[in-house]
Amino acid sequence: MKQIEVGLGERSYPIMIAAGLLADVGVDLKQRSIADRYVIIADQYVADLYSRQLLDSLAAAGISAELLTFPRGEASKNLTVINDLARALARLGVDRKACLIALGGGVTGDITGFLAAIYMRGIKFVQIPTTLLAQVDSSVGGKTGVDIPEGKNLIGSFYQPQSVYIDTTLLDSLPKVELLNGMAEVIKYGIIYDADFFRFLADNRREVLNLEQKVLAEMIATCCRIKAEVVSLDEKEADLRRILNFGHTIGHAVEAASDFRLAHGMAVAIGMVAAADIAAEQQMLRRDEALQIYALIKKYGLPVSVPPDLDRRRIKGYLKTDKKTVGGKVFFVLPTQIGLVEITYDVPEKLIDLVLK
Ligand SMILES: NC(=O)c1ccc[n+]([C@@H]2O[C@H](COP(=O)([O-])OP(=O)(O)OC[C@H]3O[C@@H](n4cnc5c(N)ncnc54)[C@H](O)[C@@H]3O)[C@@H](O)[C@H]2O)c1
Repeated sequence: MKQIEVGLGERSYPIMIAAGLLADVGVDLKQRSIADRYVIIADQYVADLYSRQLLDSLAAAGISAELLTFPRGEASKNLTVINDLARALARLGVDRKACLIALGGGVTGDITGFLAAIYMRGIKFVQIPTTLLAQVDSSVGGKTGVDIPEGKNLIGSFYQPQSVYIDTTLLDSLPKVELLNGMAEVIKYGIIYDADFFRFLADNRREVLNLEQKVLAEMIATCCRIKAEVVSLDEKEADLRRILNFGHTIGHAVEAASDFRLAHGMAVAIGMVAAADIAAEQQMLRRDEALQIYALIKKYGLPVSVPPDLDRRRIKGYLKTDKKTVGGKVFFVLPTQIGLVEITYDVPEKLIDLVLK
């Protein structure tokens, strides 16, 4: 088993990674004596797939738990679902000593974490991420929250889990498109922080896409190590943590301009290629390194250019209203070499036009 610590003083917690880990969650929770009562929160689809295994693991350790579900998908990440779940917890008589277990993808993690942050002014929670995106990104770092019609993730809080259990075999049931969604974030870590990891991804494409357990565990552990390091240096995104937004400036705008038909990871992949292109045009990044970034993203079957049917003016409109835009200046994380990035607000508008073409 691989174990990584997210170092946040008294709020530090371990991330455990292993094939088949779901079966050991009960014993670990018992050993850590995190709580005397547990409630699993999952979307209905993931509950059907994995809640039995988790309940068995808990039962084997002498822990009984309840299960609460909600319909799968981003549309559930709202205050109504939070309200429904909070009421269900209250009806079950769940008190402050209980712990929630988020079993699912990023939607479940964000909902459960936010619910844990506000139910009875805060109860414990743990994460069992089941999508690649959740295993390498959303389950680590304590960002929780829900959407409102005015925007994604506008209501939420920073609230850290007690522990994160990553079972790499859970990815076996994940549809390919969801795997690729997560791969965009995986490649991101190589570009922003770790040139060796970038090469590892280039060398192990077949093993990764075939879900070879050893390579997967290595890959996911590296992503978690990088995210843990960044978060422990800048938990609330005052500075360094902003580098995790690499590819997301143009990515978010493209995603929104497609009316969310384009999956998040696909949009981020396009955003990363665009950012590398901007950096190369500004002579911040060598052109051959920009081409390596382009090639790796393409090698994993991710898109590398803005779909021709997307309205460029709409994309630019979304860039101007991005949460991180300041005084009309768009926020960019740009690579200066593979493994290193810089934050800038100084990208000329005509350069943005050029790369969007
Ligand atoms: N908190 C953070 O730091 C952070 C970071 C990145 C993204 N996010 C959030 O994460 C969300 C996206 O997460 P996601 O892509 O995991 O979406 P998701 O949770 O909706 O999962 C995607 C789909 O996969 C299904 N699924 C989950 N695990 C499965 C498995 N093992 N086998 C088969 N199907 C499975 C789900 O039922 C769902 O339909 C967004 O809301 C985004 O805002 C949060």
